[in-house]
Order: sequence, then C-alpha cells, then structure tokens
Amino acid sequence: MRKELMAANWKLYNVTLEENVKEAKGIAESAKDADCEVVICPSAPFLIPVKEAIAGSPVKLGAQGVFWEEKGGFTAQISPQSLKDIGCEYVIIGHSETRGRFGVGSVKEELLSYFSETDETVNLKVLTALKVGLKPIICVGETINERKAGKQDEIISYQVEMALRNVEDLDGIVIAYEPVWAIGTGEFCDPEEANRIIGLIRNKVREQFGEKADEMRILYGGSVDPNNIASFMEKEEVDGALVGRASAKAESFSKIIHYK
Ligand code: PGA
Repeated sequence: MRKELMAANWKLYNVTLEENVKEAKGIAESAKDADCEVVICPSAPFLIPVKEAIAGSPVKLGAQGVFWEEKGGFTAQISPQSLKDIGCEYVIIGHSETRGRFGVGSVKEELLSYFSETDETVNLKVLTALKVGLKPIICVGETINERKAGKQDEIISYQVEMALRNVEDLDGIVIAYEPVWAIGTGEFCDPEEANRIIGLIRNKVREQFGEKADEMRILYGGSVDPNNIASFMEKEEVDGALVGRASAKAESFSKIIHYK
C-alpha cells in the first residue's frame, strides 16, 4: 500500500515570517488526525521558522529547490547538505517554474532563460539529494503546445528517464505529474487523463526498477483545490497531490488533507 502524500508547494505565496509561521501552525494542527503524509515546502528563508512551527506534529519539511554540489564557490545556491542538516526531508526538483516553463504568462518571454533548469541539472540534483538522504519530489509535465502536438507521452517518458539516470535505488523518490498548462491557471487536468499519464510514468519507471515501481508514489499537481482533490484521489494511480496556490493558506490546504 502506498501512503498518500499531500505536499504544499508555497512558491512565493507566503512571503513574511508572520504568515509562514501562522499558516504552518494551522496546517500542523489539522494534520494531527490526517490519514496521509503531509509536507510543507516554504521558500528558503522560512525553512527553519516553519520547521519550528510544525515541531511535534506529523508534518514534514521540504525545500523548493537545491543545488547539485554540496559545497564550494557557488554564490546564492542551496546545498543539499544544508537542507539535510536543518531537518528537511523532501526537496522539489525540476518544477516547471524552474525549467522556465510557466502555466501562466507572468514572466516576459525574454526573461524566461533566467529559469534554466534542464533535464541534466534535474538528474544531477536528484543524484546529490539522494546521496545526502533527501527525498526528491521530481516534477515532470508537458506544455500546452506539446499536448496540442500530441507529444505529451513522449516528453514525459523522456523527462522521467533523464531524471532517474544513474539512480540505483528508488527508495524515497516521489514523482509529480504536473501538466504545465494546469499550473496556477485554475484549469486542471481531467482526472482520468492524469490517471493515464501517471500509469505511463509508473510503466516507465518499471522498465528501470521492475516491481519496485509499484511502491513509488506518484502525485498529480496543477490547480488542485478543495473541490477537485477527491476526483483525483479516487483514481487508482494517483497517490497524492503537489499543491501550489491552494496550499498556501491552512484553511484550504486542511480541506485538501481531509478530502475524504
Ligand atoms: P498550483 O501549483 O496548485 O498553484 O496550480 C501546483 C504546483 O506548481 O506545484
């Protein structure tokens, strides 16, 4: 049995110390009697205050990103070793917003290259995260143009294959299927289609890891909210959700945690 996982990706929604602590405490309270595993990924400056706010609750701490080197002359990067050291258990890797693939057009075309994550850097980050004992939440997903061209299956399979290159053990790895066009847009994927793609991801992982793939959790992400969460969770392949906007406030994320 795969334990359901609800991960809150706070992105840059909670940006003050006060709101980070307040929302984290609210989620910690509501997660006490939750059936699923709950993770909060605040922005980096608030990892420690959020860790303190969730202390004593079952909520786990996650980071929104990491660098692939543990140490050295790399200004502004975040070491996987540091994340582990301060008590992070999870880290999001390869989110479409770090790959410069946005669901909503809030970044000017000419600035997109600032967000320069590639399949190769995703893979390097996955390998270092695993090395230090962090659990990667690896994000994959197609853009609207890729879907219109019917290329989603091929693109997602490739992203999965690249992310897991040279990975020896699947333990701790989580994959999130996040169609780019569904992120932050309010336009969520048809749950049946999400189920199909997640099945495809599992088959891809099975090629490399055999039956171990059946133990790996695969989440859906993209405009998940308290009203649609149940329609995803009732699907056989969906093991949880990576939630952005609707996770930033304890009130709505609590409803997602307690969707049953
Ligand atoms: P959203 O974001 O729930 O705001 O669509 C999900 C994500 O990007 O992880």
